[in-house]
Amino acid sequence: MRKNIVAGNWKMNNGLSQTQALISDLKKQEQTSDAEVMIAPSYTNLWPAFEALRKDTIEVVAQNMHFAEDGAYTGEVSAGMLKSIGVKTVILGHSERRAYFNETDASLAKKVDAALANNMRVIFCFGEELADRKVGNEETVVENQIKNALFHLEADAFKNIVLAYEPVWAIGTGETASPEQAQDMHAFIRSTLDAKYGAAIAEDVSILYGGSVKPNNAKEIFSKPDVDGGLIGGASLKAEDFFAIVNAF
Ligand code: 13P
Repeated sequence: MRKNIVAGNWKMNNGLSQTQALISDLKKQEQTSDAEVMIAPSYTNLWPAFEALRKDTIEVVAQNMHFAEDGAYTGEVSAGMLKSIGVKTVILGHSERRAYFNETDASLAKKVDAALANNMRVIFCFGEELADRKVGNEETVVENQIKNALFHLEADAFKNIVLAYEPVWAIGTGETASPEQAQDMHAFIRSTLDAKYGAAIAEDVSILYGGSVKPNNAKEIFSKPDVDGGLIGGASLKAEDFFAIVNAF
């Protein structure tokens, strides 16, 4: 079932005490929307966050993982490790992972497989760069990112996939895609899924928008029919702002 989701990607922010303080602030907020709420702290804070939110509806999710189950991969964390501390959802393919850590469609396909094999849910990110949009190439770029990393999957796998369209030019820049640009791309993404897997799957998948979503623009973006929520960076680091976005539905 298609759900509204708001996920806070904390990126490489917040040590332990800041994590505890932010979670304590988050717990004081009132939720008035039906959105599923998630936060993605860094690896070192996943367990304390999980413990602190055990009785809460806010889900703690990971920002990344490796595709191997275990072995000689210094510095990496596996799906099994995440699951062992109760984490059931992982963000994969964020543009910062692609840009700074050489993640490719091929390596992401392996990560997606590993997550699904461990019964985890995946928030799969993709999006074009400014140069792509300037030459009208955004749909081709997005279509290829989705096809190359996800189209080897059986239709059934999509019940555990959430898509997150994050145009690179809108991330951390204060510049958002207009609600119309977001809607157009989300409708295109749904039609791409429809062509491969059929309308039932396409209609069922939640597609989040990410890129400078703030309390003052969330309502308009979320009002679009194919936008099912947001992946929030900067504004997820303040509890009031984050919940203003959660409650923007
Ligand atoms: P900002 O909300 O800071 O633009 O970040 C978006 C993002 O990258 C979420 O994953």
